[in-house]
Amino acid sequence: MYTKRAKELINADTQLKDIKFLGWVRSKRDSKNFTFLEVNDGSCLKNLQVIADESIETYENMKDINTGASVEITGELVESPGKGQKWELKADSVKMIGFADPESYPLQKKRHSDEFLRQISHLRTRTNKFGAISRIRSEASFAVHQFFRERGFLYVHTPIITGSDCEGAGQMFRVTTLDDTKKPAADDFFGKAAYLTVSGQLNVENYACSLVRVYTFGPTFRAENSNTPRHAAEFWMIEPEVAFADIFDNMTLAEEFVKYLISFLLENCRADLELFFNFVDKWLEERLAHVLESEFVRLEYREAVKILEQSGENFEYPVSFGTDLQTEHERYLTEKHFKKPVFVYNYPKTIKPFYMRQNDDGETVAAMDLLLPHVGELIGGSQREERLDVLESAIKNMGLSIDEYWWYAELRKYGTVPHSGFGLGFERLLMFVTGVSNIRDVIPFARTPKNLDF
Ligand code: 4AD
Ligand code: MG
Repeated sequence: MYTKRAKELINADTQLKDIKFLGWVRSKRDSKNFTFLEVNDGSCLKNLQVIADESIETYENMKDINTGASVEITGELVESPGKGQKWELKADSVKMIGFADPESYPLQKKRHSDEFLRQISHLRTRTNKFGAISRIRSEASFAVHQFFRERGFLYVHTPIITGSDCEGAGQMFRVTTLDDTKKPAADDFFGKAAYLTVSGQLNVENYACSLVRVYTFGPTFRAENSNTPRHAAEFWMIEPEVAFADIFDNMTLAEEFVKYLISFLLENCRADLELFFNFVDKWLEERLAHVLESEFVRLEYREAVKILEQSGENFEYPVSFGTDLQTEHERYLTEKHFKKPVFVYNYPKTIKPFYMRQNDDGETVAAMDLLLPHVGELIGGSQREERLDVLESAIKNMGLSIDEYWWYAELRKYGTVPHSGFGLGFERLLMFVTGVSNIRDVIPFARTPKNLDF
């Protein structure tokens, strides 16, 4: 007896005997002397069709087997005379492993809204769409590691618990064992205030300054109270960091990375992606192909502001030098003006974190954001300040404490090097690739303001 997954059976090239197959019933259809089951085991989009003849010994089990039940089928894979599938599993025996009450099982054979499925996140991966997203997410993670490994990058596990605010934006979740948070932080577990990390960057920079090419890929946390379709309080970020590299090297790496991930998924997740091409976003396939063949635009922030000022668009937020670009501005640049991915770089230093390298104009820093149609900002990165005195005054000017960053500053004291890196929001990438418009639907169990179920 061979236990096989649906993916192997559906793609088999010959008939197979002695098969054991396990999965969940998607639908059941009775005909005169037979019952058909559509069974899915999550290995691929397609269900395996099972046919059970009433003459088999275990046929009476069938009466309790409904949509949602888990089953064990043994039998023979034979050519299917019916339309829609090449193979079907002719059962020698059917066994129910777990019952599902047809009255209350929430996944009926109809299209459910994303909002409804979010309320049953524990079951939604039993639908075609969320099964597909899960497989694409897993393959994309693998592709991330493969991309960096092929290029000699080392994977660094940066800490989740931290004492320093990388982005300096004060959006950190406190971690504490104190029952009364008014007690002094010195009494707390670590003897000082602790938080969940907003970015692994500062630590990954340390490693780049000895190992040259490194990256981290892990969960990050932000207590920003923005209830938008593109923000989550817990999200995954990929952060490469390269020594002896400037802002332009950084953009080159980012462009190569994004194209690699899209090509990888087109090649390895074709069947799943087709679901999104057909049912989620009719322009998706074209958009992905277009990104692959486009050379990404590199546009200085000053130029971006000029384009926006002269656009004739009626933006909700006015834009001028020194203002941060809002989603509406980002989307205008990438979707309307250039109609392709755009790097905006050299932002005003007043709107960016302390660690970015100051440019000679005294006004801007070597920051870069990658803007993409449909998702807006996919990547944020920069060349880092490698000059000790400039870094120290930036830390002071932003009202941060040098004491918290002494170790970070020290890298600039001993063999400092120009270096740069970026952070790519993994969920934003998945939104781009699938056309899904809400971040809550590309992460297994979304954490957003006032929402901590599951
Ligand atoms: O632009 P951000 O804040 O950059 C950093 O954190 C840098 N320390 C990265 C680095 O240089 N190593 O965040 C990077 C990316 C954004 O471009 C966006 O795609 C994603 O992370 N992101 C979020 N994704 C989902 N929900 C949120 N709340 C996000 N905030 C940022
Ligand atoms: Mg950013």
